[in-house]
Amino acid sequence: MNSITVNKIKCQRDLFNIPEHIVYLNTAYMSPLSNKVQKAILNGSIIETQPWRIDPKLHFFSFLNQIKISFAELFKISHKNVSLIPSASYGISTAAKNIKLTKTKNKILILKDQFPSNVYPWMELVRNNKGSIEKIDSCNEKSITEKLIYRINEQVIAVAIPNIRWTDGYVLDLERISIACKNYDVKLILDLTQSAGAMEIDLGKIKPDFAIIANYKWMLGPYSTGFMYVSDNFIEGIPLEETWIGRKNSEDFSKLTVYQSEYNFDSLRFDMGQRANFILMPGVMAALEQLHDWGIKNIENTLYENNKIICKGLNELGFDILEENKRAPHFISAKLPCLDGNLVIKKLKMNNIFISERSGYLRITPHLWNNEQDFLKLLECLKLIIN
Ligand SMILES: Cc1ncc(COP(=O)(O)O)c(C=O)c1O
Repeated sequence: MNSITVNKIKCQRDLFNIPEHIVYLNTAYMSPLSNKVQKAILNGSIIETQPWRIDPKLHFFSFLNQIKISFAELFKISHKNVSLIPSASYGISTAAKNIKLTKTKNKILILKDQFPSNVYPWMELVRNNKGSIEKIDSCNEKSITEKLIYRINEQVIAVAIPNIRWTDGYVLDLERISIACKNYDVKLILDLTQSAGAMEIDLGKIKPDFAIIANYKWMLGPYSTGFMYVSDNFIEGIPLEETWIGRKNSEDFSKLTVYQSEYNFDSLRFDMGQRANFILMPGVMAALEQLHDWGIKNIENTLYENNKIICKGLNELGFDILEENKRAPHFISAKLPCLDGNLVIKKLKMNNIFISERSGYLRITPHLWNNEQDFLKLLECLKLIIN
């Protein structure tokens, strides 16, 4: 048997710039940059003050290739299928540009209350091509996975979903959904922004057509950076932008005006314009290195164990929380009837405690910078607010 050792990681607060009195439990909103990532970005900005140090081969190509290799290892795919994108909406828009609706195959399945970056590109696609969107809601008898699979049929062209719902952390079984999609030749497009970096994700097993990740949450990277996995089925597809670097022979800066009708190799065609962001890309690399150092499985396990402390306390205070087998290990959503979520957030903030409220849930998303005192402060403060 293949046994993998999973370790609990001790609190990593000293790697971050978080003052003692701040209780930051809001990774699903935005992760703080670690000191290492911040230093890498600072060094990147120094390079821009001395552009003679910017090397075409290194900074425009090989360093970005290393970043793709590092990302690909974490998600068990080839770096040749990885693109650099600025946002989830950019990636989803690229996917939507490559999905062709027909008269009989024109329905897109999404979840109810899905994050808008994975909704608007589909709204535009169906509006321009006489298609329709069907939203899958949760219900008590059936899981969302089962409900979704039940709705997949010949009329469906694409399923565009996250692997956890961003409002409450409800988890979907992507491997099962992927099998159902393949049975009906349905394209699978994933927004993994709320789980990549905090949950082990094997894209080699899930086999989506596209998978998109914004970096500034669980990937611990800088804002305005992200990744897109493009499967072999679409690797010769159309990019969102027509970039010069995406064209054949762009490595030779002296011949860029020998315009090319062909794209460059692999997924390079899908990379965003000005992908070689000299300031932010070193930060992206430093964040990936941190994830490799800790190990995503270890992060997942640690957050799951730590979150049990909060869940137990919330239960004792009378909050409704999603059952353990339904929720992602790194996500807690809590509901208390008759409690004004906005007011709770405001009062917590006055006490330097930071969480979010989304679609009626208090969303609590700690990370490795949090310690047990943080959890106790949150629970104490919630107790005072309720009473
Ligand atoms: C599920 C999900 N996807 C994507 C994003 C960010 O999207 P974008 O990168 O398009 O701003 C968020 C932000 O909260 C999110 O929760």
